Amino acid sequence: MSAPRVFCQRGSSEPVPVPVFLSTPPVQLAQYQALIDALKAEVLAFMAAADSAARLDAIKGELNALKDARLAELQGAIPKMEQHGDKKIAGKSFNELKNAIQQALDAFAAAQSASSGIVTFDATMPARRSWHGSLHPVTLVIDEICEIFRELGFTIALGPEAETERYNFGSLNFPPDHPAMELHDTLYLGDDTLLRTHTSPVQVRTLQQYAPPVRVLAPGQVYRRDFFDATHAPAFMQLEGLAVDEGISFVDLKATLAEFARRFYGATRRVRFGPSYFPFVEPGAQMDVEVDLNDGKGLRWVEILGCGMVHPNVIEAAGLDSEKYTGWAFGMGPARIAMSRYDIHDIRVLYDSDVRFLEQFAR
Ligand code: PHE
Repeated sequence: MSAPRVFCQRGSSEPVPVPVFLSTPPVQLAQYQALIDALKAEVLAFMAAADSAARLDAIKGELNALKDARLAELQGAIPKMEQHGDKKIAGKSFNELKNAIQQALDAFAAAQSASSGIVTFDATMPARRSWHGSLHPVTLVIDEICEIFRELGFTIALGPEAETERYNFGSLNFPPDHPAMELHDTLYLGDDTLLRTHTSPVQVRTLQQYAPPVRVLAPGQVYRRDFFDATHAPAFMQLEGLAVDEGISFVDLKATLAEFARRFYGATRRVRFGPSYFPFVEPGAQMDVEVDLNDGKGLRWVEILGCGMVHPNVIEAAGLDSEKYTGWAFGMGPARIAMSRYDIHDIRVLYDSDVRFLEQFAR
């Protein structure tokens, strides 16, 4: 048996021609095997020699030539064998050589991208799942409430977060040094300026700016010197509502707020009103909604807002005639509402910005 000729020599630019025995049947298995073995040894030697980026390129060129042109000829020789059993063995050897070459090429590609710092781009990889941001659950609740009240004829009004003592307290009928001011532990910015403790100052600001009939909804951030615990946050959103016109009564308040609760929580949901105290409303009330927090304790009443008829002193503080105009107002915390709606038991999760929690609300 003559020594097999290897048709791809390391460093040679021209591949050696195919040995004649491959094209003249019958092809001898022993010769074929020897050729394949020699080529495989050559490929392994190539891999071992790939020591520099420049050599990598040269070797890769040779391997590619081997793969493109010569493998086809080696494959073509298989059917030219006499024995069926020989064809099977030759086919297996051929596949092994093909895999060895492919592995060598892959290894070179990886080594090359590592040495050049270029990340190879594999267009066959499945696309990475794209991530879309979404609205925060409290924002979703605010948007939904604003939409319900928009349908009932309310527009949006906004006021400053840095307020004066006069708008935050005085114009809202808090007498100077009244203990009610202590209900709101206030963060002062200066002698007279503070971070608003509620959105109610927007009531007076709106009435000073627009003549009745007024129907507005004022969402916004408010601040209190509170501990950050499961039910309190020192900064939170509030949603204020105000309706002022001639002849507005408590009936309008009850009807509107009950209708809101039916639209927001569902048509069969029960609501109830009870007395409450805020200096800027008279009478003052709170509205409770029956909710199931899914904690196994069943339905229970949850207070969702404070409300009442706007106090005549507030109407007067805004420069309007309290004999002519009456109105009602409410204030609610959308975070609390989000909690009752989504079975959230600790308000802090709404502030943690943990995407795993927040993405559950993605729409
Ligand atoms: N401003 C009150 C609070 O922060 C809520 C409220 C608003 C109550 C309007 C009655 C009317 O608690």
